[in-house]
Amino acid sequence: MKAMFTDAFTSLPFGRDDELRILDVGCGLGFLSCVSAEFYKNARITGIDTFEHVSLKRSSLEGVKKNVRIGFSDSIDFKKVDMFRFTLAEKFDIIISNLVFHNFGKIRFKAYSLLSSWTQAGSFVIGHFFFSPKTDVSRESVQVLRHIKPKNGFRDYTLLVMSRDSHGLS
Ligand SMILES: C[S@@+](CC[C@H](N)C(=O)[O-])C[C@H]1O[C@@H](n2cnc3c(N)ncnc32)[C@H](O)[C@@H]1O
Repeated sequence: MKAMFTDAFTSLPFGRDDELRILDVGCGLGFLSCVSAEFYKNARITGIDTFEHVSLKRSSLEGVKKNVRIGFSDSIDFKKVDMFRFTLAEKFDIIISNLVFHNFGKIRFKAYSLLSSWTQAGSFVIGHFFFSPKTDVSRESVQVLRHIKPKNGFRDYTLLVMSRDSHGLS
């Protein structure tokens, strides 16, 4: 999964040394926040999670802070908050999320709208199961630019590289 996200990051119109602001929605144990911190060396990453969901038992804000690998603790900040109640202090360059949206049902349309309003450049990298291009994005201002499928296993999983518009992405 790390390789898929790294592949997705190479599609985005940002340099690896850019001072980016990245939001990890439903960060869980912090895996994806660490992958993005490793890829974008000068990024500031915010990971948000309720830490109360049944899909990830025994997760906590304290736990995820301890999980962060040595060297990344200065660049990653975690907050305990529901994404539907999250208020921004700043806009983000990239929003990432893994294994969160498929649990939302129809509320995911609201989630896509929020994401769209939280970015300046409008780049999203979102991995989840059972994505349908017709139903998932037709009502939204986001556009799917790439579907990245796993090489083996997890056949229903798709990593989506999305944008508010198609400009600036390769
Ligand atoms: C299956 S885990 C995935 C964790 C992590 N992204 C990963 O790839 O390992 C789903 C996470 O989404 C979080 N989550 C679910 N609904 C949320 C919401 N409304 N706001 C913030 N986080 C949420 C859960 O608490 C859980 O930690």
